[in-house]
Amino acid sequence: MDKHPELTFFSPQIDLKILPYIMTIQFSTKIFSQADLQSPKLLKSSLKSLLAISTDCLVLGYSKADFDSFSGTKGAKVKTGVLAELDLLLGGSLGHVSTLGDLDGKQASVCILRAEKSWSANAVKAKRILLLGMGDLQSSADKSLLAYSKVARAGLKALSGGAIENALWFAPSFTLSKASETIAQEVRLTIQYAGDQAYRFGVRQPAMKFKAKDNADTFKHLVFGGNDATAKELKLAVEQGSAMVEGMNLAKDLGNLPPNICTPTYLGKTAQSLAKKAALKVEVLGLKQIEALGMGSFLSVAKGSETPPQFIVMRHQGGKVGEAPIVLVGKGITFDTGGISLKPGEAMDEMKYDMCGAASVIGTMYSAALMKLKKNVIGVVPTCENMPSGKATRPGDIVKSMSGQTIEILNTDAEGRLILCDALTYVERFKPKAVIDVATLTGACIIALGHVHSGVFSDDEALVNDLTKAGHDSLDTVWRLPLDAAYHEQLKSNFADVANIGGRPAGSVTAACFLSRFTEKYKWAHLDIAGTAWKSGAAKGSTGRPVPLLVNYLLEQK
Ligand code: BES
Ligand code: MN
Ligand code: ZN
Repeated sequence: MDKHPELTFFSPQIDLKILPYIMTIQFSTKIFSQADLQSPKLLKSSLKSLLAISTDCLVLGYSKADFDSFSGTKGAKVKTGVLAELDLLLGGSLGHVSTLGDLDGKQASVCILRAEKSWSANAVKAKRILLLGMGDLQSSADKSLLAYSKVARAGLKALSGGAIENALWFAPSFTLSKASETIAQEVRLTIQYAGDQAYRFGVRQPAMKFKAKDNADTFKHLVFGGNDATAKELKLAVEQGSAMVEGMNLAKDLGNLPPNICTPTYLGKTAQSLAKKAALKVEVLGLKQIEALGMGSFLSVAKGSETPPQFIVMRHQGGKVGEAPIVLVGKGITFDTGGISLKPGEAMDEMKYDMCGAASVIGTMYSAALMKLKKNVIGVVPTCENMPSGKATRPGDIVKSMSGQTIEILNTDAEGRLILCDALTYVERFKPKAVIDVATLTGACIIALGHVHSGVFSDDEALVNDLTKAGHDSLDTVWRLPLDAAYHEQLKSNFADVANIGGRPAGSVTAACFLSRFTEKYKWAHLDIAGTAWKSGAAKGSTGRPVPLLVNYLLEQK
C-alpha cells in the first residue's frame, strides 16, 4: 500500500466534510421605531437614537443636497439637513473634517469620523461614523441600484481589513424613496457584496486551508438598522440575503475545490449533506440507474473516466402540493480535458470550473431551502468527468439520447450539451412551469459577451424578461443572444439526427440550438455562464454567479 500522505489526503475517498453553517460574516437587524432621517421633525431624535448605540461604526448615507446645505456651497445661510444636525450632535467634528476638504458631495465618496472627546460629552456611543456620499438623488443615474451598488461597495471596503468588527448600516438613510421594496433590494445587494468580500476558500474545508492570508477578515457582523415603516421588509431582506450568501459560498467552494476532490461523487455527497441541513429532498442516481434511464448521450461523456457519473435530483417543496415546479439544470463536468478531442494544455486547470453550472444550481437550491421559499423548485445535476482513455468516446461515434434522437459526436469537447440534453429530457416528468439550464457551455460565449453578462437563450419572451429583470436587481446580469431556426442548419449530420457541433460561427448559439431540440415540452431558457462563473489571473476564483440571479428570479416569481 502506498502510504504517501499527499495521496491519502487527495484521495477522493477522503470525505472533506462540508460545514455549510460556517459563515464568515453575520447579518442581523435592529429597528429604531421612529427613526427617519428624511423627516425634518424627527431628524434630531433619530440621529440621537442612532448615535446612542454601541457599534464600531455607524454607517450613514447622505446626498449631494445634504452636502450642499451643510457646506454652504449653494449659498444657503442656515445649515440644515442630516449633516448639519449630525455636526451639532458631534460637537463640531464634521465641520472640522469638512474644512479639511475630506467631505464632498460626490457619489461613492467615503469619509470616516473617529470618536473624540466631544462625542462622549454628547453621549455618542458609536466609535466611528462612516459617511457615504450617494451623489445627486435628483438624477436618475445616481438614484439607480447600480449607483447604490458602487456606494455600498465603497462602504464595505472601508469597513473591512482594519480594526472594525461590527457596523450598523442605517438602511433608510440610503434611499430617499419610501418604497420598502427599494430598501429590501438595496439591503439584499449589500449583503451579497459583504458576502463576496468576506468569502475565503478553505473556511468550510479546513483541510484545504493552506496559507495564513486566508484568515478571515476582522469585520464579522453587519447590522442593518431600520424603522417601523420598513421593519418587516428589512428583516425579510436580511434573511433572504443571508440565505443567498450561504448558497453563493457553497457554489464558490464547489467551484474552487480541486478536481481530484470535487468529483461527481463529492457533488452527490454534498447534495445529500444539504438534505440534512436544510429541508431538501435529495436523490442521487448512480451508473446503473442512469443506464436504466437510457441516457446514452450523458453516458458517452462519462465513459472515458475512472470515476462514475452521478445524476443528482434535489427538491424544495415550499409551494402547494401539485403546484408546477421551476426546474434548474446545472452542467456538472468536474473536469473537462476535452476527451479524445483533447484541449491544449494552457490554463487547462481552469476546466475544474466546468461544474459551476451544477454548483450554482446546488447553491441556489440550498438558498431556497434556507429562506423557506414558498415555491416548488427542483434542481437537477448530471455530473461526470470528460477524460480521454481507451474507453473514451471517439469523434465520429453515434450515440442515442434518452429522447430517442441519435447524435453524431464530431468533437468530444462539446460534452456539456451531451450531458445536459439527457437531463433536459429527464425533467419532462416534472411537468415544469419553466426549466432553466445553467452551463459553462462555450468558449465562444466569452468571446461574445466577455466577463460582464451571462448569455441567455430562449424563445419565451416572458422568461427572458423575468431573467433580465432578476439580473438587473442582483447586478448579476444576462444578455440575450439569438436562437432562431436558421442556426439549426449548422447542426445537420449525414449519419444521425443531429451533430453535436455546428462549426466555429456562432458557437454559443448552435450549442443552445442543440439543447433546444430536447426542450419542446416546456418553457425553457439556457444560461451560458462560461464568462461569468469564475475569474482568471491573479484573482482566480469562482464568482458564485449566477446564484444571485437565480435566487432573485425565484423570489420574483408570482
Ligand atoms: N467547458 C467548455 C467551454 C469553456 C471553454 C468554458 C473555455 C470556459 C472556458 C466546453 O465543454 C467546450 O469545450 N466547448 C467547446 C465547444 C466546441 C468544441 C464546439 C468550446 O467552446 O471550444
Ligand atoms: Mn468541453
Ligand atoms: Zn465543458
